[in-house]
Amino acid sequence: MTRITINADQKVGKINKNIYGHFSEHLGRCIYEGIWVGTDSSIPNTNGIRNDVVEALRALKVPVLRWPGGCFADEYHWKDGVGPREKRAKMINTHWGGVIENNHFGTHEFLDFCEMIGAEPYVCGNVGSGTVQEMSEWVEYITFDGESPMANWRKENGRECPWKLPYFGVGNENWGCGGHMRPEYYADLYRRYQTYVRHYGENKIYKIACGANTWDYNWTEVLMKQAGHLMDGLSLHYYTVPGSWFEKGSSLEFNEDGWFDTLEKALLMDELITKHSTIIDRYDPQKRVGLIVDEWGTWYDVLPGTNPRFLYQQNTLRDALVAGIHLNIFHRHCERVQMANLAQMVNVLQAVILTDKEKMVLTPTYHVMRMFNVHQDAELLHLELKSADYTYESRTIPAVSASASVDKDGKIHISLCNLDPTESQDIRCEIRGTGQAKVRGEILTSGKMNDHNDFEHPDVVAPSSFDAAKIEEGILVTTLPPMSVVVLAIE
Ligand code: AHR
Repeated sequence: MTRITINADQKVGKINKNIYGHFSEHLGRCIYEGIWVGTDSSIPNTNGIRNDVVEALRALKVPVLRWPGGCFADEYHWKDGVGPREKRAKMINTHWGGVIENNHFGTHEFLDFCEMIGAEPYVCGNVGSGTVQEMSEWVEYITFDGESPMANWRKENGRECPWKLPYFGVGNENWGCGGHMRPEYYADLYRRYQTYVRHYGENKIYKIACGANTWDYNWTEVLMKQAGHLMDGLSLHYYTVPGSWFEKGSSLEFNEDGWFDTLEKALLMDELITKHSTIIDRYDPQKRVGLIVDEWGTWYDVLPGTNPRFLYQQNTLRDALVAGIHLNIFHRHCERVQMANLAQMVNVLQAVILTDKEKMVLTPTYHVMRMFNVHQDAELLHLELKSADYTYESRTIPAVSASASVDKDGKIHISLCNLDPTESQDIRCEIRGTGQAKVRGEILTSGKMNDHNDFEHPDVVAPSSFDAAKIEEGILVTTLPPMSVVVLAIE
């Protein structure tokens, strides 16, 4: 039995809707094919952007989208990606397979795409191989309203009024693909580059410094000490990689070993956030600086027969559980975690959408992100969880992950995951501080742990309504089927 207490009269803090953010990089088939097909394509599109993908993303309520990388960001030169498309310079995408990047999807296309899906843009600038001037002029080009070389150029290129650019990242993984820097060196560069990321007119930019690779607490310490006062956010990257980086295992062919290993590693996100936050707290007890988890998700071996640098993997019920676990963790840390970006949006890593020419399929991760989006901008409620165990061989993790929030209309949402692939979980949940007693729900589960959706069978893993929960005298009682994700609404 899992016992939960929810104190509906104790609000912990606001769940920033940006925790539901996404990430799209010039990598494999994410941008090209997944989002951009070009204006001449027979695939239905608006100004070159796929209509089916836009429609699916609108339904997901994507709050914010990070672009153009990733590792690509630190070799991207934005000026090559504006102006008439047929005249744009080509480049080699050295990091992701050495393919030719024709720069047809550039600043205008990205910002148009954000407008189409209703997301705010988060642009990541080039520190690794770019100049301060280049970064500064990019911000001027996008946001300056008036006479200036960059604003005039933007107008010549067809966009009269500036865009809003709320979020800007000063480099990506500068401890690795973004320049292999030491934290002291990057901290100095951050201080310099961010100086010229200007706030033009009403456009106030939230500046995000490159943060640590997973367990590198020294990076966080140095950045906070040397540059904490000049940043609004500090990033953190952590991928759920079963096995090892050299042998991650298949996204589709796995047994309980791969299931357990993956979920156990997904749960580590909680420890990581806690420990990085403890360091940030020392320098910023007021919690002004947000922790921005701008890359997270599963990373498996690529599907056989696909380009090893395109990072194309399938997405099963296991990924749905990974998504649910992460979102519950982000909710619980909502006082510090102000944004998170799932890697990546389409056709790469833990994608919410897969495409094959004119076909498109929604993954189990998509469904979880959609079911959970009721928590966006809601108030996190205090919740105590005494979970039953899920033991596999000699290892044990909690069987249940949970969080709860109340939205602006007073509706309470509880999201629950049962990580155990064979045992159902009886839940007894006391809901204090409210008289609300009408409950309805939605569930995502399936018969086998590696069930997934493909182009021939797009609805193998799909949400359905869940009516196995009832509330009597303030006690919610339900049973979660094995390997399931449930979201309950209480009013
Ligand atoms: O998401 C794929 C890659 O993972 C990104 O380009 C990089 O930032 C990270 O290492």
